[in-house]
Order: sequence, then C-alpha cells, then structure tokens
Amino acid sequence: MTHEGKGGVVIGDDGTILWNGPLTLLPRNFQGLATDDYGDNIVMAGFIDAHIHFPQLRMLAAPGKDLLDWLTRFTFPEEARYSDFDYAKANAKTFLQSLFANGTTAAMAFCSVHKACADALFGEAQSRGMALVTGKTMMDRNALPEVHDDATTGAKDSEALYQTWHGKGRLRYAISPRFAITSTEAQLKVSGELLKSYPDALMQTHLSESPGEIAWIKSLFPNDRDYTAVYERFGLVNDHGVFAHGVHLSESECQRLHEAGATIAHCPTSNNFLGSGLMSMKHLGKSERPVSVALATDVGGGTTYSMLATLGEAYKVQMLTGYKPTALELFWIATRGNAERLRLDHEIGALETGKYADIVVLDQRATPVLAARQELSQSLEDMLFALMILGDDRAIRATYVAGEKVHDRLSA
Ligand code: GUN
Ligand code: ZN
Repeated sequence: MTHEGKGGVVIGDDGTILWNGPLTLLPRNFQGLATDDYGDNIVMAGFIDAHIHFPQLRMLAAPGKDLLDWLTRFTFPEEARYSDFDYAKANAKTFLQSLFANGTTAAMAFCSVHKACADALFGEAQSRGMALVTGKTMMDRNALPEVHDDATTGAKDSEALYQTWHGKGRLRYAISPRFAITSTEAQLKVSGELLKSYPDALMQTHLSESPGEIAWIKSLFPNDRDYTAVYERFGLVNDHGVFAHGVHLSESECQRLHEAGATIAHCPTSNNFLGSGLMSMKHLGKSERPVSVALATDVGGGTTYSMLATLGEAYKVQMLTGYKPTALELFWIATRGNAERLRLDHEIGALETGKYADIVVLDQRATPVLAARQELSQSLEDMLFALMILGDDRAIRATYVAGEKVHDRLSA
C-alpha cells in the first residue's frame, strides 16, 4: 500500500470541519494547533446506522423461531420495561456508548411505545451533541397490553415529542408506526396525517421482512393488493420514509417505492439471524426503477452494533443473490448514502468543510489476522474490504461526535 502523505481535519469550536486535506496543504493559520495523530490509520466520516431498536439493547441473540415468534416471546416483554424513565435513561447511556464504540456517530432508531423511553433517548443524545432520528413506537394491537397505545394517545404523544425534540440540537423526530400488523387502520391513518402535518419529520416502519409476517398482512388487509399498498393507502410512502428490510418485495412494489423516493433499510445480520430471507440489492437496484437502499444493524434482531460487520454480512448476502458489491460501495452507503436517506447529508456523511466533525478512525491492522491480511492489500478498496470482512469494534481506534472524542479504544 502506498501512501500519498498524511491528511488532516481541522475542527472548529462549534464542532464543524473548518478544513481537510493533505497536511502539506494545511493553511498557515491552522498550523500549530493541538492535534490527535493517528499515524496511517484511516480517518473517515462516522458510520450511520439507518435502523436500530434502542429498547432491544439487552436482547441480542434471543433465539426466536422466526420474526413473529421472536417478537412475541422476547421483544414485546423486554420493551414493556421501557415505561420506566430511569430504566430507559440508564440503558440509553449504554446504547449510545455501544454505537460510539463501533464507530457509529448517528442513527435512526425505534424507541418503545412509551413516551418516557423517547424522552430518555432524546435527552441522552442531546447531551452528547449527536445527530439522532428517533420516535416513540406507535402500536395499538397484536402485541401485549403493556406495549399498546391507541390511535389518539399515540398521536398525541408523538406530537408532543416532535414539539419538544425535533430540531433541538441535532435531533430529528421520526413518526414510528411499528408495522401494519401492530397498528389498526385508525392508527395508520393518524400516522399518515402526522406525516402530512409535519413534512420535515421522517417516518420509519417495517415492510416485507418475513413470509409469516407477509401472510398475516394479507389476512389483515385482504383488499390491499400487497404489503406496500397498505402503507400507500395511509399516505406513508414518500421520500421521508425508511422501511426496514424489504426482503420479499415484488416488481410492482419496487416500482412504486422507486416512484415515491422511499428507502429500504437493508439489515443483513437480522435477516440472517431470524431466517427472514435474502434481500437482493440487485433486484432493488434495477436501473429502470432503482429503490434507494440504506444499511442498518437492526439491533436486537440484528446481532451486532458494528457497521463494519454489517457491511461484511451485506457483502455475503449479496454474493448469495448474484451480486458482488465493492467495499467502497458499501462504505459509501454506510456514510454518505445513509446520510442522504435520513435527510442529514447537509450536515454529515462525509469529511467536508461545514459538515459536523462526526469521525471514525479505523485501525486497519487492529488484530493479528487483520495485520497479516493487510500486508497483501494493494489499494484502499483492498484495505476496506479486509476491514469489513474481518473487522469489528476492535478496529475502531477512536470516534468523534461534533469534534469531541466520545470513544478511544486505548482508554476504553
Ligand atoms: N417488525 C416489527 N417489529 C420489528 C422489530 O422489532 N424487529 C424486526 N426485525 N422486525 C420487526
Ligand atoms: Zn427493526
């Protein structure tokens, strides 16, 4: 691997990038500043996780038979605990630190159904100065009474949370109907109305994840032509919508998602763990009607917070569906691509002047196995490829949010 000289990033007091480029070109007025020197490690924009569940923090590796069994036996009972603000707040600290330890500096997250849970997570993200998109889950049927709201209180709480948090610091609100199985038509209707009333909010839900789920949707909504049509009927499919999974979408659904500018969040570790199926980026990306794809961990259906490991898993899933992505393509999606899909690309996703200094430092030789493998790397593509296949939190040397160091592997 040849190096074209070291680069540098100059960070202002407001946490934004004032300059970046080769150190040989560092402007005179920035010389002599205090520096963190990471040698020849890779300094890049922090990872963005486009779909993750905060209240599933304790339940990674819960062995469900499939999605619906996993939700019923493990997920809903655990999420019920998040009615308690103090419990949620304590876990929010662990959750955010887990993101940072994995080089993730921004995320779009589901909370539980409880307003207290969203207040706790928003508050902790705010105090760390991070970009977070989240919202209280809306779900008023087919789960447990402890995690049900109703159409009226769900909308009222969502609206109150939007008013309190949306646009505060770097926070954004996401209207969050869990999925059409756990929302009545009345609730889907108010979700669509909220999205219309607050056009700068985002919307997150789940779509076409597993065969059992899709069969249940058919029986709940017999008059809709397919799963996507249910969300369309309630005005939920637009370019502010992030739909998790999209594993089993038909040609027609892809066409309509493309026309709407909606996003599918690909969650490969979750789809593999729950046996949901192989999501094909080749199918979604067909050039005549490409559907935008984001990448995400989907913790706790997903089995890791590491976006590096998630990229590696995405690579393997795509190989099984007849498509060989490059490392650069997957790293691009996990940074700038996800920033675009979450409507945050004006402030994150790349190291560029004026954007926030949300940064990850990758140690490409973090383990003996990586170090040995990198001896053969001939290019940046090679090096990133090895990192996404062999790397995890051990390869995260340091993480910065708005210029503040929030994780240092050597002192963690
Ligand atoms: N569909 C509805 N809720 C969930 C969830 O929490 N995780 C996953 N993977 N799929 C869902
Ligand atoms: Zn999910």
